[in-house]
Amino acid sequence: MCGIVGYIGKEQAAPIILDGLAKLEYRGYDSAGMAIAGEDHQINYKKAVGRLKVLEELTHGGETMPGTAGIGHTRWATHGAPSDVNSHPHFNKEKTIAVVHNGIIENYIYLRDYLMKKGYEFISQTDTEVLAHMLDYYYKGNPLEAITKVMHRVEGSYALGVLFADQPDQLFAVRKDSPLIVGQNEDGCFIASDVPAILKYTRKVYFVENQEVVRLREDHMHFYTIDEEEIHKEPTLIDWDANAAEKCGYEHFMLKEMYEQPKAIKETLMPQNNPRIRGDEITIEELDMTDDELRAIKKLHIVACGSAYHAGVTGKYVIEGLARVSVEVDLASEFRYRNPILEEGSMVIVISQSGETADTLAALRESKARGFKVLGIVNVVGSSIAREADKVMYTWAGPEIAVATTKAYSAQLIALYLLAMKLARVNNTVTKEEYQKLLCDIKLLPDQVELLLNNKNHIQKFANRYIGAKDVFFIGRGIDYAISLEGSLKLKEISYIHSEAYAAGELKHGTISLIEDKTLVAAVSTQEALYQKTISNMLELKARGAFVLAVTNEDNKAIEKEADYVIYIPKTNAYFTNSLAIIPLQLFSYYVSLGKGCDVDKPRNLAKSVTVE
Ligand code: G6P
Repeated sequence: MCGIVGYIGKEQAAPIILDGLAKLEYRGYDSAGMAIAGEDHQINYKKAVGRLKVLEELTHGGETMPGTAGIGHTRWATHGAPSDVNSHPHFNKEKTIAVVHNGIIENYIYLRDYLMKKGYEFISQTDTEVLAHMLDYYYKGNPLEAITKVMHRVEGSYALGVLFADQPDQLFAVRKDSPLIVGQNEDGCFIASDVPAILKYTRKVYFVENQEVVRLREDHMHFYTIDEEEIHKEPTLIDWDANAAEKCGYEHFMLKEMYEQPKAIKETLMPQNNPRIRGDEITIEELDMTDDELRAIKKLHIVACGSAYHAGVTGKYVIEGLARVSVEVDLASEFRYRNPILEEGSMVIVISQSGETADTLAALRESKARGFKVLGIVNVVGSSIAREADKVMYTWAGPEIAVATTKAYSAQLIALYLLAMKLARVNNTVTKEEYQKLLCDIKLLPDQVELLLNNKNHIQKFANRYIGAKDVFFIGRGIDYAISLEGSLKLKEISYIHSEAYAAGELKHGTISLIEDKTLVAAVSTQEALYQKTISNMLELKARGAFVLAVTNEDNKAIEKEADYVIYIPKTNAYFTNSLAIIPLQLFSYYVSLGKGCDVDKPRNLAKSVTVE
């Protein structure tokens, strides 16, 4: 949530900040603002409600804000509605200290009252404004001292960029529990919430740890603890493809990322230099567990949010089915507060694309505090979850920019399949033949996904018929229910059409009353053993007027008699069908959203990385 960018160096800061914020807009896009160190120890600033382009136009692409040091912000509102006054940067009264913030200051009411008693006046509804006034309260000419004093007093999470008017030759970056990196090239130093913001300028980045402060100058950076002790840090070289954060001719990042799914699957199966399938063996080196240790796992707890949670639901069916290990799947926001029962022999798996989701991170910490090992299935290298988990299995999907996840979700499924197969192998719960078939089928997935993507035209045509839909339902049984959850989320998040996913047998227990003439129901039916059961549920719905779209295996031609429209997926192992069935559902959502004229990559009210509870 919220994106931060800062720059100090030889170049003009404002265009670099705007460019970086554009790459971070997926983090929040209610409003944006910038503060630039001007001449005569003044800070110039501009804020604007709405998308970043409003700020770009207001400042002529940054031209009207000259200066070589500055900070910028794109906001996802938490405290106070999107408005000019609530936009960042926030200032002290004299506007000599500017702050941009990502996170939540939990004791801001107490601090605000404290400062008001000291004569400070507040003009916004934000929690961030207390930071600016507190810095003012403690600032006696030494920025580092003021910042660390504030850090000792505030509770909550923060990634900050701070600029002092009387110190235009330095910028400060501060972090606790919200993501923040800094980077450097020959011309200057950068602050950013995430790598894509500065990838164009440098690949040499430093991950700022909790409760650290960075002083950035034109040609060097210094790192400090909360107690002002200087620390040494090693840079990380980011080896992402330069095109990773660009659309490369695609109309939207979402479309580009859907087309990157075959590659994301391949890379997750066979990471460069460290393939996970070697001959007949599945090797997940990152697990660093012997077969005996794997056999000792009695229960898995999968914890995640959003689509990552949906991947976890699929994981439950696949792991339980193949490896006969019991799996509980929890929404991270529920897990932490329900006092979960973790028994000996349990292992926790957290799944996260960003590696920064606050609830997932909190679930990880809760599990570790109780003495349980946590495996993170994470996409963003070096993210908080990746660093705090005991073991990390990366999904090598590459940077994902569109708010609605596609390729990271597909890569998460693959990671879970590999885990299931590994456990099945050591637990001896599949025969040699079944195992060989699984190996063969999993390797075919990238090409099969590609085939489905290339066959998008009929889905686009079909989607165009549903631009005006009011409600859409997704149903399925078993693994097909898991994919229905994700298909439904994709549709509602980017097209704003009300949609629900139901286990096919459950709809009649109430929700069927919502079915009206021509209501679209997408019935996913990829499990041969359940074909007839799902058909019965389809018929119940058709009898009440529903228009039934079936998503099924290519050999299930019999379904044509019952469904109104059929989308076929290539034949694969029953445990892997989600990887194929999701493709037409993603395409359907994309084209409905496109047809409705919605902002596909940045749907309203959402943010990609949810760093607040
Ligand atoms: C947000 C995103 C979702 C994502 C969820 C979990 O809500 O919009 O696409 O699935 O967060 O994010 P994570 O980064 O932990 O996978």
